[in-house]
Formats: sequence, structure tokens, C-alpha cells
Amino acid sequence: MKKYPLFHSHLELSHHYWERLLLPGDHAIDATCGNGLDTAFLATCLFSTENLTGTLLAIDTQAEAIEATQRRLEETFGNSVVDRVSFLQQCHSTFPASLPPIKLIVYNLGFLPKGDKALKTQTETTIASLSNALPLIQPGGAISITCYPGHPGGKEEELAVRSFAASLKDGEWSCYFHERLNRRNAPSLLLLQKAL
Ligand SMILES: C[S@@+](CC[C@H](N)C(=O)[O-])C[C@H]1O[C@@H](n2cnc3c(N)ncnc32)[C@H](O)[C@@H]1O
Repeated sequence: MKKYPLFHSHLELSHHYWERLLLPGDHAIDATCGNGLDTAFLATCLFSTENLTGTLLAIDTQAEAIEATQRRLEETFGNSVVDRVSFLQQCHSTFPASLPPIKLIVYNLGFLPKGDKALKTQTETTIASLSNALPLIQPGGAISITCYPGHPGGKEEELAVRSFAASLKDGEWSCYFHERLNRRNAPSLLLLQKAL
């Protein structure tokens, strides 16, 4: 049983928001696909047997992460879903040209769990990516960012993401920050929604 059943963890909370926002047929990007847990969750929101028009792009700098995500999708859904997801092994600081209007871009910052901790997201490229993500988002769409301030550089990255979000114009974006206050270095969640 959960010790504090009233509250969601930062990951549960992020998935709760994604599920509320996404409909089959929408377009989404996982900008840090890692082991594919988030990509698999996005796939359940986007793809249905009745609506085959949704797209999902999974990005990660590491081949290991792309392969782990492909494996997870295959194991969870079979080949039909893997064939509908695009994979890009590159830094997320740039996105491909000519994407459709995107409903949701998600970031789960930091390093690959059980992987090389040196291969983690960096403040500069994270902020560059967020800047490039803003115009891709359709009205009513959102950006979700999970931060881990407990590893070296993680606090600085979280602060930079917070001030980036706080600088967005009220009336164009609505930005929220969720963190557990009484646990040191607790992970946090930021949600940025573009106005309709
Ligand atoms: C915390 S993990 C992501 C977890 C993943 N979302 C999941 O559900 O398993 C962070 C990932 O970000 C990736 N990463 C680090 N720097 C990156 C960059 N500049 N562009 C894209 N991915 C990056 C790492 O390789 C790692 O796989």
C-alpha cells in the first residue's frame, strides 16, 4: 500500500496529465526516450485500432536507449506499434523540419537508469531544445519536463528550466511546477501549456 495515498509521484502525475491531454490521432515526441517507459505510455494514449493517424517520435542520443525503447514497444504491443513510431538517435536540441503540429513533447531529464551517468542531459542543450520546442506545439498542447536535482548538474538544470518556464508570456503559456517540499533533491515536474 502507498504510504501517502493522496499524492502521485512525479512520474504518475506526468502520465496523468499526458493521458488527459492526448487523444488517438495526436502527434507527440518523447525527447529523452531512455528505456522506453514513457514512450510506451505515450503509445497507449496515441494509438487505437480505430484511429491510425497519430504519430510518435522517440529521440535519444544513445543507441542503447533507442534499442531498449524499440524492445519495450515490441514486448508490450507487438510490431504494429513499433512500425508507427519514428526513432532518432541525436541530441534533442534540434528537431526535424516539417513536423505536424505537436500536441505534447516530453522530457525526462538526467541519465539512462543503469546506464553511463556521464551521458546525461545538459542545461545548455535542454534549454536550446525547449526554445525550439515552443513553436512546434499546437494551441492547447503542452511540454512536460521531469527534473532530477539530485545528480551533479541536475539542480542547475532544474533551475534553468524553471526560469525558462517562468519567462514565458502569461496569456500565451501557462506554466506549473510540482515538487515534494520536505524531501531533499526530490524529482520535480514542470508542465507548460500553450494557450488555445
Ligand atoms: C532519465 S532517462 C529517460 C527515461 C525514459 N524517458 C524512460 O521512460 O525510460 C534520460 C535519457 O536522456 C538521454 N539524453 C541525454 N542527453 C540527451 C540529449 N541531449 N538529447 C536527447 N536525449 C538525451 C539519455 O541518453 C537518457 O536515455
